[in-house]
Amino acid sequence: MNILLLGSGGREHALAWRIARSPRLTELFIAPGNPGMANYGRCFPEVSVQDFEAIAALVRQYKIDLVVVGPEVPLVGGIVDFLHRQPQLEQLLIVGPDAAGARLEGSKEFSKAFMERHGIPTAAYRSFDSGSYAAAIDYLRSLQPPYVLKANGLAAGKGVIISSSLEEAQRELQMLLSGRFGEASSRVVIEEYLTGIECSVFVATDGKDWRLLPVAKDYKRIGEGDTGPNTGGMGSVSPVAFADAAFMQRVEERVIRPTIAGLQAEGIDYRGFIFIGLMNVGGEPYVIEYNCRMGDPETESVMLRLKSDLVELFEGVAEERLDQCSIEFDERAAVCVMCVSGGYPGAYEKGYPITGTDIEGSVVFHAGTTLRDGQLVTDGGRVIAVSSYGATREEALQRSMRGAQQIEYRDKYFRSDIGFDL
Ligand code: AMP
Ligand code: GLY
Repeated sequence: MNILLLGSGGREHALAWRIARSPRLTELFIAPGNPGMANYGRCFPEVSVQDFEAIAALVRQYKIDLVVVGPEVPLVGGIVDFLHRQPQLEQLLIVGPDAAGARLEGSKEFSKAFMERHGIPTAAYRSFDSGSYAAAIDYLRSLQPPYVLKANGLAAGKGVIISSSLEEAQRELQMLLSGRFGEASSRVVIEEYLTGIECSVFVATDGKDWRLLPVAKDYKRIGEGDTGPNTGGMGSVSPVAFADAAFMQRVEERVIRPTIAGLQAEGIDYRGFIFIGLMNVGGEPYVIEYNCRMGDPETESVMLRLKSDLVELFEGVAEERLDQCSIEFDERAAVCVMCVSGGYPGAYEKGYPITGTDIEGSVVFHAGTTLRDGQLVTDGGRVIAVSSYGATREEALQRSMRGAQQIEYRDKYFRSDIGFDL
């Protein structure tokens, strides 16, 4: 089959790497893609994931059978609904939920209320707007520090604020409600702080059945030992030791089963990935957030551990026959180390030449690169991910770090302690 993959980051590069090995693939098309992905398919750098008309035109021109949507923005923006409304594309196979399903990520208020309706464990919360500022302050006062504030809508991963003092939380609340993220923060969810260790659970679902992908953990802080500001993600590991069979059974019973049943009960035909950010609080799973897509940089280690055919899984999801699909994991550990630009997540320069990306024994995924006069150059905060297998997590980490050392560009930085807390 002909597949169109949407996106341009490390997550999509990792998906492309797996799609490309499938015997079911005829040709892979990628919009916009990146220079690393060009080895696996034909990229359309001029087509943005938000240009739904141009994407529909690609689907027609290249007789696409299956569309895989990588990032959340087009999903929340309704790309699935848009494509299915086009003449002759009503039956187009798509991996990714429609706009109703994508609200699990697109609206914190919706997702919290959804969890409440379906008895899914999550932090206690209330939501507020500028008209209920006084009530929000009262609610903050009723909680213990630290305080957790969340912009209701998508805010490019920056919409969660954790404040250690009441005064700071009040200032942050005011800034959010007065439009720091525009419409996305016109409503704010305030919730109880949960103490525990997090992991990322990936569920592929056709709306009725589901399959679990390998569990991963990402490392968001810029500094070693989880210090400093949040980034898009500095690395990931899979498996996660504490997410053992007993814990995952509780996750299936208390979180996944009621989530899928809840979507069905609400008439949401969800076909795609649900990425559940979970906190393990004394052995009990609590949902921190839902995302309507795979994680980045988790996908860069999860795809190494998926042994079975990814395209077959995609078809099962999109054609609503996941019950016929089996999924197989690689027993080895995988670790991804992300090389970023100096200064990131603050201001950073782009356009520095990159060399040393042919790394034996590791897989290299481009996250923020582009070609300038035929030369590969940096083009983002997160630049290149290096992922490796190992008999143990430590061995995989050592390999990925050796690879990250080999990559050269000005002001490169990476963390050397990915997985340190497991
Ligand atoms: P997000 O940007 O939604 O991925 O959230 C950023 C991070 O904030 C999460 O990965 C958690 O570490 C943290 N977080 C969010 N909600 C809570 C909570 N209720 N309690 C403790 N930490 C939280
Ligand atoms: N790694 C977290 C995310 O993709 O949102």
